[in-house]
Amino acid sequence: MQQENPTLTMIREFVALGRAEFERPRSPSGDGHGQRKLTEGMTAAGPDGEPVKMSEPLLQLLAPRAPYFDLLVEGALESGVTQIVNVGAGYDDRALRFRSPDVHFYEIDLPHVIADKKRRLDASGLDTRGITLIEADLATDGAGDLLAAAGHDRRERSLFLLEHIVLFLENSAVDCLARSLAGRAAPGSTLALTAEAHPQGLDSAQVLATTDQVMFGGTSPLRTILSRDTWLAVLKNAGWTVLDPGHVTAVDHFQVPLDGSAAQIQTQFLTATA
Ligand SMILES: C[S@@+](CC[C@H](N)C(=O)[O-])C[C@H]1O[C@@H](n2cnc3c(N)ncnc32)[C@H](O)[C@@H]1O
Repeated sequence: MQQENPTLTMIREFVALGRAEFERPRSPSGDGHGQRKLTEGMTAAGPDGEPVKMSEPLLQLLAPRAPYFDLLVEGALESGVTQIVNVGAGYDDRALRFRSPDVHFYEIDLPHVIADKKRRLDASGLDTRGITLIEADLATDGAGDLLAAAGHDRRERSLFLLEHIVLFLENSAVDCLARSLAGRAAPGSTLALTAEAHPQGLDSAQVLATTDQVMFGGTSPLRTILSRDTWLAVLKNAGWTVLDPGHVTAVDHFQVPLDGSAAQIQTQFLTATA
């Protein structure tokens, strides 16, 4: 396996450790301790090997994300959705937290992440029935085919969760993923994602290149930052209808210097239906 970008490793661990700090809902048969068990021994060490300290500003950055996706899962379960597909699941605990009779959770991530998650789940002693872990490199693998092979039923409604994954995929892979999931989405299915968005009118390639240089010294794992309008078009072209497209739900993520001023990059929250 090619060595993973250490910043991606750090971010994956950091978001899971951060999520473990929040009070969150769970289903009646769900496990409220799963996130802590899944992250036991993790340090979210950066490229310099130093563990990231969980500071208040960093937690503030993560704070809106957990409730956004948790509420969608709760709503889906209440409305009778029986398939939750978590794409780029990392160490997300939702399959444990929202465990429910007759509901199946599919989790997709890179092979080494899936292997480590499986090891952690086995070690946790938690009930993992109803969870299918799927290895994929979404740079090249089609999520739809893998879901079909894993038993996902395209005739039944699904909730697709893409929390903080598409920013790590090239534009073309994001397009393929959005189309591929639309192909698995029965009417009434929902797709929810976080998307890194720059102000309208900027050149996306320039924003990405500047972010890479200024924030990561040329080693950025980020691959896709687009304007909101482009994000809406990507989803529309893939067959998704974004709910309330005129209303922006977002958290300010970081700023990059561009053309003499600071461009605000937001993490925007988008929900779409099939
Ligand atoms: C920031 S983490 C977020 C994880 C999880 N959604 C969460 O919120 O805790 C991004 C995840 O995307 C996964 N990912 C990045 N590139 C990927 C690829 N090419 N194929 C599959 N998964 C990928 C990473 O392994 C990582 O688990």
